[in-house]
This record gives sequence, C-alpha cells and structure tokens, in this order.
Amino acid sequence: MKHLAALTIVTAACARPSPEPTTASAMRHPHHAPHSHDAHPHHHGAGHFQDPAQWARIFDDPARDAVIAPDRVIAAMALAPSMTVVDLGAGTGYFSVRLARAVPAGRVIATDIEAPMLRYIEARAQREGLNNLSTALGTEDSPGLAPGSVDRVLVVDVWHHVAHRVAYARRLAEALTPDGRVFIVETRPDAEVEGPPPAMRLRPETICQELAEAGFEARALGLSLAHHVVVEARRAQGSAGR
Ligand SMILES: C[S@@+](CC[C@H](N)C(=O)[O-])C[C@H]1O[C@@H](n2cnc3c(N)ncnc32)[C@H](O)[C@@H]1O
Repeated sequence: MKHLAALTIVTAACARPSPEPTTASAMRHPHHAPHSHDAHPHHHGAGHFQDPAQWARIFDDPARDAVIAPDRVIAAMALAPSMTVVDLGAGTGYFSVRLARAVPAGRVIATDIEAPMLRYIEARAQREGLNNLSTALGTEDSPGLAPGSVDRVLVVDVWHHVAHRVAYARRLAEALTPDGRVFIVETRPDAEVEGPPPAMRLRPETICQELAEAGFEARALGLSLAHHVVVEARRAQGSAGR
C-alpha cells in the first residue's frame, strides 16, 4: 500500500502548519498538532512551504503517480502543443514538468506564493532541459497573471488554501483567454486518508458553486480518481468584466 502512504503524506502536507518536517513520518500527523486547520479554516498563507528539498521527497515521490494519476489529469485538460498553461501553487513542480513536456511549443508558468519553491522549479527546469517552463510569484489574494494570457490553469491540492476563493477566482477568470479553462483538483471529502480535516475539505458542489459566483461555468469531471475530485471551469458566457 505504498501508494496510499504517499497519498496520506501528500494530503497531509496540505494541512501541515509550519515548521517544515524533517522526515516524511513527521508529516503524517499534522492534524493532531495543536495548530491545525480547525484553528485556521480555509487557508494557510505564506511561510509554510519554505524547504523545497524536504517537500520534494513528498510531492515528487514516484509512488504518487499511482495515486493522483497525473497523465489522466493532464489528458482531461485537452492541451494543444502551443498553449500557455499555469500550474498554480506548483510546489516543487511535480505537475509543472509534466505540463511543460505536454506543451512543447507552448509555455508553462509555475506560480506559488513561496519564492523558495519557485527557485527550486527554475533549477529543476534547467536540469531537465525544459526551456518552456518559467515561474511567477503570486500572492494569497492574486495569481499575478496578465489579463487574457492563459489557456489552462491547473490547481492541485491548493484551492482549500485560498482564503477568499470567489474573489480569487474572479481574478483567475480575468487571466484566461476566451476559451481558457481552469482545473481544480482536491482531496475528496469522503476519502479515507489523512489530509485536510473535514472542515477544510471541499465538496465538488461547493467548488462549483463558488466558481459560479465568480462567473464560471463549472462541473466535476468523472475521472474516477480514487481520492481526488477534479472540477473543470470556464468563463460563463457574458461573464467578462464581472
Ligand atoms: C500541497 S502543495 C501542492 C503543490 C503542487 N500543486 C503539487 O500538487 O505537487 C500546496 C502549494 O500551494 C502553495 N500555495 C498555497 N496558497 C497559495 C496561493 N494562494 N497561491 C499560490 N500558491 C499557493 C503552497 O506554497 C504550496 O507550494
């Protein structure tokens, strides 16, 4: 059950308060710590993902492939080779490098609110020869993307960290091209794994409802991932300028 252990660790990472763990096992009990998601519902803010080398052991554990099925997630994004794609809250770049390979004539922008994560991804891109992968620093309130510039946005294990999701989603909508789409991947509320506590887990209906408030048409995709839900969203017709 190595893959389940990996999932536990990855989802636990979403909920873990600072300081960073020194071992993988240290990350497996974040919700029993006094400082938990229950004390800080819905977001964490910056300062919690500051040691990329440590987090890379978790986020880039090869066992994660069997858990989150990155190829299936990326296939659902219907990428064209020349698209501009954002990996929002990219962490150590687990999805960024895969996306960069999927759009060889396009570009991938890995964003995060933690500068050390972005520096890690820049070095990784160089190491892996991915000239189409760059980074951009976001803030808790804004993705920091140019208007009308992005074809696809992938948001994995990040959305529950965003404090003001409707306002944030409005800014995200502004960054999209007319046919642009956003894909939000979150741990299922009923997933029997350690991770964000119940109060933090987002039902797909909630994600869709909040996105609708922000001017999106959103729906949960039937990708049949074991522990995650994927919501696809595009700007509702007539929503420009909301
Ligand atoms: C659990 S990690 C997921 C990393 C990556 N998406 C993955 O699946 O491997 C969450 C990441 O989101 C970042 N983050 C948290 N809130 C954010 C926000 N409002 N905007 C951008 N990134 C954020 C954190 O710094 C961290 O790197």
